[in-house]
Amino acid sequence: MKTKRNFAFVVLLFAALLVLSGYSLIQGNGWEAPPEADKLTNPLQNKVEAARSGKKLFSKNCVVCHGNQGEGNGMAAISLHPHPTNLVSPKVEAESDGAIFWKISTGRSPMPGYSSTLSEEKRWQLVSYIRTLQAK
Ligand code: HEC
Repeated sequence: MKTKRNFAFVVLLFAALLVLSGYSLIQGNGWEAPPEADKLTNPLQNKVEAARSGKKLFSKNCVVCHGNQGEGNGMAAISLHPHPTNLVSPKVEAESDGAIFWKISTGRSPMPGYSSTLSEEKRWQLVSYIRTLQAK
């Protein structure tokens, strides 16, 4: 009787693991911005000079991890876990401006959050620049 229950438990455990690993495959690394973030819109949208300023900020603050073209292959990338995200991947491309802005602001280890070091305007400039990288 007891072995039967143990067996059922093991089967259940495997089923749960299978569901979880399938889920993480679909979701990538599973870092999702809260739904409210999607409501934020980029006040600098379509302003060419915003992306230009964003490029400078990106070189100074982000290239070391995310790489020159945002592909996640910066100098520090190999030593970091999780690896810096490829910002030109279809997954990130599909995210809203607000979600990307929220992630830049909040950060998640090993990536720092920039809400106290870069003004809101600068963080939107970065979003504008990331969109131009994705369009290439
Ligand atoms: C110390 C290395 C490091 C630096 C510097 C860094 N990042 Fe990251 N970034 C990461 C890592 C690692 C992740 C993945 C974090 C995770 O998924 O838990 C990430 C994730 C992101 C994401 C989320 C992608 C997504 O949608 O899932 C964005 C956007 C991003 N970084 C933008 C930036 C920008 C813009 C800068 C510069 C202002 C920057 N990062 C600086 C390491 C870094």
